[in-house]
Amino acid sequence: MRTPKSPVRARFDGRTVAITGAAQGLGLAMADRFAAEGATLALIDVSESRLTQAAELLRETHEVDVDVAVVDVTAAAEVNAWITATEAAHGGVDVLINNAGIIRDNRVENISDDDWDAVVDVSLKGAFLCARAVFPGMRSRGYGRIISFSSMSWRGNFGQANYVAAKAGIVGLTRALALEGATSGITANAIAPGLIETPMLASMNDAARDLLTRKVPMRHTGDPADIAEGAAFLASEAAGYITGVVLDIDGGISIGSSIR
Ligand SMILES: NC(=O)c1ccc[n+]([C@@H]2O[C@H](COP(=O)([O-])OP(=O)(O)OC[C@H]3O[C@@H](n4cnc5c(N)ncnc54)[C@H](O)[C@@H]3O)[C@@H](O)[C@H]2O)c1
Repeated sequence: MRTPKSPVRARFDGRTVAITGAAQGLGLAMADRFAAEGATLALIDVSESRLTQAAELLRETHEVDVDVAVVDVTAAAEVNAWITATEAAHGGVDVLINNAGIIRDNRVENISDDDWDAVVDVSLKGAFLCARAVFPGMRSRGYGRIISFSSMSWRGNFGQANYVAAKAGIVGLTRALALEGATSGITANAIAPGLIETPMLASMNDAARDLLTRKVPMRHTGDPADIAEGAAFLASEAAGYITGVVLDIDGGISIGSSIR
C-alpha cells in the first residue's frame, strides 16, 4: 500500500465513500487513498478476517471513521441493508466504488454455468445492486459519484468470456447510470485497469503474467496506487462534468501492440 506522502488537499473531508471488495488489492488501496484525503469509509467484503485486518490498518494510519461489514454484493437484501445503515450513520453515501470482482478463467466450452453466474453476478449484478441502492439518496441530495470497475479485458480476451461479458456490461451499465443521474448531480464512470499488482494478478501463472507484461507499452505492471489516483480524481467534486467515460489506467496496453 502506498499512501501519498503529502496529499495536497483533503478533497473528501465530510464525504462518505462506500467501497465493495475492500479487504485487499485495489479496494484497499482506494480506501487508503480516500482516508488520506479525509473520507469517512464504509467498506464491505465477503472475507471477514481480511476485512477486519484492513480496517485495523486503516484506523492505525488515518484518523477517519472506518465502518466495515461482511456483505455479499450479489445479495440484494444485504446490499440494501448496508446502504441504509451507512446513510443512517453518516447522512448519505457520496461516492460508491463498485470494485468487487472475481475471475474464473476458462475457454468458452469449459465455462460451467456456475462459473458464468459467479463472475457476472459479482462484477455486474453487484454493481447494479449497489448503484440501485445508492441512487435514491444521491438523487435527493443532488450529489453522487459512482465508479465501477471494468477491465482492459472488456474489449475481449481469450479464455475469459464470462469476465469479458461482465466487464463490458459494466461499461453499458455506467453509460446508462450516467444518463439517469445527469440532471441530479450524479456522475457515473468506469475504470478499466490493465495489469496491476494485486492478489488477483498474483493468482495468474508466471508465463501468462510475463507474456502480458511484455505487451504493456511501458513494459511494467501498475501499482494499486495508480488506480487509487484515478478513482480519487473521478470521485472528486472537480470531476463533476465527466460522466459516462471509461478511464483506461493500463500503461498504454489498450492502445494496441508495441512489440518491436
Ligand atoms: N488487478 C488487476 O490487474 C485488475 C485488472 C483489471 C480489472 N481489475 C478489477 O478491479 C477490481 C479489483 O481487483 P483486485 O485485483 O483488487 O482483486 P482482488 O481479488 O485482489 O480483490 C477483490 C476483492 O473482492 C472481494 N469479493 C469477491 N467477491 C465478493 C462479493 N460477492 N461481495 C463482496 N466482495 C467480494 C474479494 O474478497 C476481494 O477482497 C475487480 O473488479 C477486478 O476485476 C483488476
